[in-house]
Amino acid sequence: MSEGKERQQWGTKLGIILAVAGSAVGLGNFLRFPVQAAQNGGGAFLIPYFISLILLGIPLMWIEWAIGRHGGLFGHGSAPFILNRLWKNRVVKYLGVIGVFGPIVIFIYYTYIESWLLGYAFFSITGQLFSTVTPEGMKSFLSIYQGLASGSNLGTAYIFFVITFLINFYFLYRGVQGGIELLCKVAMPLLFIFGFIIAGRVLLLPHIFTGFGFLWNPDFSVLTSAKVWMAAAGQIFFTLSVGIGAILTYASYLKKGDDIILSGLTAASTNELAEVVLGGSIIIPAAFVFFGVAGATAAAQSGAFNLGFVTMPLIFGQIPLGAVFALLWFGLLFLAGITSSVSLAEPAVAFFADDFGISRKKAVVWLGVILFILCQFPIFFLGQGVVDELDFWGGTFCLVIFGTIETVLFVWVFGIEKAWAEMHHGAEMRIPGFYKPIIKYVTPLFLFLILGFWFFQQGIPVIMMQGVAAAQQPYVLATRIGLVVLFLAIALFVRLAWYKKKKAGEIE
Ligand code: ALA
Repeated sequence: MSEGKERQQWGTKLGIILAVAGSAVGLGNFLRFPVQAAQNGGGAFLIPYFISLILLGIPLMWIEWAIGRHGGLFGHGSAPFILNRLWKNRVVKYLGVIGVFGPIVIFIYYTYIESWLLGYAFFSITGQLFSTVTPEGMKSFLSIYQGLASGSNLGTAYIFFVITFLINFYFLYRGVQGGIELLCKVAMPLLFIFGFIIAGRVLLLPHIFTGFGFLWNPDFSVLTSAKVWMAAAGQIFFTLSVGIGAILTYASYLKKGDDIILSGLTAASTNELAEVVLGGSIIIPAAFVFFGVAGATAAAQSGAFNLGFVTMPLIFGQIPLGAVFALLWFGLLFLAGITSSVSLAEPAVAFFADDFGISRKKAVVWLGVILFILCQFPIFFLGQGVVDELDFWGGTFCLVIFGTIETVLFVWVFGIEKAWAEMHHGAEMRIPGFYKPIIKYVTPLFLFLILGFWFFQQGIPVIMMQGVAAAQQPYVLATRIGLVVLFLAIALFVRLAWYKKKKAGEIE
C-alpha cells in the first residue's frame, strides 16, 4: 500500500472484540469440541485442554494481535509482509504465504458446510427435515442433500451454497467496519441468545444430569496418552482461530494505541464460554437422554457431522416445538460459521488491497471469482475425500506450522523484550510477569513437541495416504497437486507485490 492511502479500520473496540470472537466461535465450538471431549477422557480432557489454552492458546492470541497491529502500522494486512516487518530476510515473506494460503484452503470447504446449515434451517421451517424421524431417515436426508445418495442431485445444496457464498462476499465487499464489524455485532449476540435458549431447553430434559455425567465424568487414565494431549492442543488451535492468519489480519486494522491484551483475552474468553459452557452442554448430554449410553457413545464416535446433522434433528423431531429449536440450532451454527468464514477470506483480501495495491472492492470481486471456482471441488468431489484432504492441510497442518513460525519470529528473532513492550503498548492491563518466560520458552517448546509428535503420529500416515480407499487416491493426489499450485500462485503474487513495493521505494 502506498503511504498515505487510507487503510480500513475498526469502528469500535467492541467491534474488533466481537469480530475476533466471531472468527473463533465456529462449528468447532459446537460440533468438534464435544466430540473431542467425549472421545478423549470426558472431564479429564479439560486438563490438557486448559493447559493448552494457558500455555498455547492465550499466548498465541496475544502474539497474533501484537504482530498484526505492528504490521498494520506499516500498511500491511497479511502475513507475508507483516512477518517481514519482524525479520527483514528474503525468505520470511514466503513463510508468510501460509497465512494467506491456509485460510483460503479452509474457506473452500468451510463455506460449503456452512451452506448446509442454511439449507437445514430452511428445511426446519418447511418441516421437510422431519419427514422421517428415524436414524436411517435422517442419514438418508443428509446424503440426498449432499448429492451422495444414488439418484439424488446437488441442485438444492448448490442454491444454498450460492446464497451463502454471496452473503459472505456481500459483507466482505462492504469493508471492515461497514461489513465484517456490522455482521459480527449482530450475529454474535444473536448466536449467544440462540445458544442459551437451546442449552436451557436441554437442561429441562429428564435425567439430563446423568447425561452431563456421561460426558464429563473424568477418566484420568487418558492423561498419559500423547494422543489426548495432541487432540486438546489441536482443538485449542482450531477453536481460537490461532495459527490461521485471520486474527493477524483483523489486528492489522487496529490503531497504534489500541489495547490488545485485555481485548485479546476477552475475545478468547468469549470463545471459551461458547465452547465449554454451551458446546459442552448441548449435543452429547441431550444424545444421552434420548439414546442412552450406547446411543450417545455411538453418536460421539460417529463424528461431528453426524452429531450436528443427524443426531440433533432426531432429538428435535421428538420434542414439542422441535422445529423452532431446530431452526435456532441451525441458525446458531450458520451464524457461528459465517462470522468465521468472512475472517478466513479477509487475509487474501487484505493482501491484494494493502500489499498488491488494488482497491479493496476490486480485490473482493476478483477473490470472489477465484474462490467460487475453487469451491466447486469440495462440492462436486465431496464423496472422494477432497474435504478431508483440504481439512488436513488447511485446518491442521498449516495451523501448527504457522503458529510455530510466528511465535519463533516474534519471541526469538524480533526479541522477547521488544515483543513484550509491543504487546503492552496501549494496554489496559499488564500480563502477569510469569508469562514472559512462558511465552519465551514454554510456548515454543510446546509447539515443537506438538509438531514432532503430530508429524510422526498423524502426519506420516496421512501423507502416505494410509487408510484412503484406492478409488479415492487419485482424487486425493489431484487435490494435493492443486494445493501446491495454489501455494505457488500466492507466492508468485507475493513476489510481484514485493517488486512493486521495491520499485515504489516502500521497502528497502
Ligand atoms: N475457529 C473456528 C471454529 O471453531 C474456525 O470453527
